Amino acid sequence: MSSDAPSPDLIAKASVTSGSGVWHTTPLPGVLRRLHLTDGPHGIRQQTEEGDHLGIAGSAPATCFPPAVALGSTWNPELVRRVGAALGAEASAMGVDVVLGPGMNIKRSPLCGRNFEYVSEDPHVTARIAAALVEGIQSEGVGACVKHFAANNQETDRMRSSSDVDERTLREIYLSAFEEVVRTTAPAMVMCSYNRLNGVYTSQDPWLLTTVLREEWGFDGVVVSDWGAVVDRVEAVRAGLDLEMPPSGTDRRIVDAVVEGRLEESVLDTVVERLRGLQERVSSDTSRPPEHEAHRELAREAAREALVLLRNENGALPLEPGLSIAVVGEFARTPRYQGGGSSHVVPTRVTDALAAFREALPEGAVRFAPGFTLDGTDAPGLADEAVALAEETDVAVLFLGLPESLESEGFDRTDIDLPAEQLALLARVRRVSERVVVVLANGGVVSVTDWRDDADAVLEGWLPGQEGGAAVVDVLTGAASPSGRLTETVPLRLSDHPSYLNFPGEHGHVRYGEGVFVGYRYFDTLDRPVAHPFGHGLTYTTFAYSDLEVTETGGDAWTVAFTVANTGGRAGQEVAQMYVGLPQSHPTRPVRELRGFAKTALEPGESVRVELPLTGRDLSTWDPEHGRWSLAAGTYTVSVGASSRDIRLTGEAVTSGDRFAPALTRRSTLKEWSSHPIGGPVLAEIRAGMEGLDAVPEELMRMADSLPIVALATFGEGVTEEMVDLLVADVETRRLAAIERGEITG
Ligand code: BGC
Repeated sequence: MSSDAPSPDLIAKASVTSGSGVWHTTPLPGVLRRLHLTDGPHGIRQQTEEGDHLGIAGSAPATCFPPAVALGSTWNPELVRRVGAALGAEASAMGVDVVLGPGMNIKRSPLCGRNFEYVSEDPHVTARIAAALVEGIQSEGVGACVKHFAANNQETDRMRSSSDVDERTLREIYLSAFEEVVRTTAPAMVMCSYNRLNGVYTSQDPWLLTTVLREEWGFDGVVVSDWGAVVDRVEAVRAGLDLEMPPSGTDRRIVDAVVEGRLEESVLDTVVERLRGLQERVSSDTSRPPEHEAHRELAREAAREALVLLRNENGALPLEPGLSIAVVGEFARTPRYQGGGSSHVVPTRVTDALAAFREALPEGAVRFAPGFTLDGTDAPGLADEAVALAEETDVAVLFLGLPESLESEGFDRTDIDLPAEQLALLARVRRVSERVVVVLANGGVVSVTDWRDDADAVLEGWLPGQEGGAAVVDVLTGAASPSGRLTETVPLRLSDHPSYLNFPGEHGHVRYGEGVFVGYRYFDTLDRPVAHPFGHGLTYTTFAYSDLEVTETGGDAWTVAFTVANTGGRAGQEVAQMYVGLPQSHPTRPVRELRGFAKTALEPGESVRVELPLTGRDLSTWDPEHGRWSLAAGTYTVSVGASSRDIRLTGEAVTSGDRFAPALTRRSTLKEWSSHPIGGPVLAEIRAGMEGLDAVPEELMRMADSLPIVALATFGEGVTEEMVDLLVADVETRRLAAIERGEITG
């Protein structure tokens, strides 16, 4: 403890652990320059210095690309990488050093208000899409900041609620995408979340921010708080949080903690070093032109690939030339193309489907009726007018969706239904129209169960960014083929969902009671019906799969190869998906889990040989007892198909596992002893020498399986604790020797 006044150097170092203003880091003369951070993630939201982080104040115009829900649905990392590069280029031109994105939390429940900012219910596709965004952004000399780390899967009580998650679930589902992105793309920053994780605020969780993120995954960038997420400044810095944003004006607490010996000064030196590392990686260039023109085309391409054709009965789509079309629904004229909150971007322009239709089709082919109001206020005349229009035309295209007031950052939905007045309108249109197409606008999934039979075709349009209107018309008219796939299951009913009973929690805790059985992992393992499965999406053509080969390439690595052929009459893109599972291990592990995919564009009659890598880690589960990934020996199922429920080919990957043999103790059970590669044979030898063992009834032997071996000293004839300890020591010596010889790992 020192009573000395703090040195200017200490005060200066403490000052960089928080920002200067809402969007800037604090400079340190001669050492650190002031860095500019800004949201993100689907467009650059550069506010003035007096801005806010809730998206209330405006920002400079920037291309509004499709949000993550839509980018994920493209299943196209190459395209997403180009979007990332465009985001990076715009950020650079605007003098932004770090883009606060991508968001990569898992969609645990369809109700999460921020699902539009997240990629998927599955960590593999989340990781691939987020990695592509990070690579793209960073290729332009701008940093990316993956968020919100971690287990921030709801908005309800987000600044206090504790996400209570067992470690296996955490590792396999909620951390694994972050892990992959950190390991493979080295993002410049990681943003901690608001919530607590198993009782500890993530902003001050040393296990999360240091042990896992830095020591295990090798992250060497800067950890920033979510805006306002820091609860205890000193605890946060000690735990590994480098930067509090925006500044709370409490740097003095850091200084005092150092002076009073509660915080090592070296921790601040490390923060300075990390910030220095960050500034060396980023270099914005405000002299470059913003390229908005070219980015419009890219935003349109991305939106096009994001659209998911959920249903298409009797070839209702594409719309052939010459039809008279009733475009119905206010969303056709006033599109919802992005979500509310901190990610809200001021677009460079917005295309709406109505204008795009009129541009694409001859004059008079398209007539419009709004049908309903966006705020749901009663306007009966609107519906009547729309029904009359549908009656006079060949096809009715209804633009239905969720108004912004129903989903946004900051709160969760309470149901997954479309507004009742929109569904009533659809039912009326169905009665008068031969051909009804529904185009959806929504950030989180909506139920289709009660109304899908009223529609011949349903095109899930998500929130597709500023060029979404044009993209939708490209697909409806067949100028482009739909190629998006669902990255989340559409349940029949909300109450079918695995998260249903544990969302959004109560009394400050949300229990992740479904464990690893998130989304399709639950529905598929229990074989429960769904409205549309994970991975689903139709095209205007058909694809055939053949010739699956799983070839071992050595050291628990395989290549999974198969052929995809376009067997229909139109060009299209298939998203071939690879799932793995281990038979007989259910229900402790999901029946199948996505571990690879490839999107391929094929002309009619064309085929392609797809090759996907498969690794031992892809087959592993987290072993919480020993704190490691565990690869069990076995014959794994490798399935390839067009969705998690449309498996076309099945093969096998055989492994003898990682031969992990932990130390046996006196508390290890007889079962653990007998299945142990070293302890097992020793125990068998002892048993062989024991008289009368053969006469012990089978059920008694099975009961004994769960006995800790030391219990034999109580129950076993003539066995003493000393004998057990000698056995443990002997087996441990043999085990260490076997590890030394490379026969097992331990
Ligand atoms: C959001 C972050 C965002 C930050 C800055 C927070 O409310 O959770 O995603 O980056 O504000 O706007």
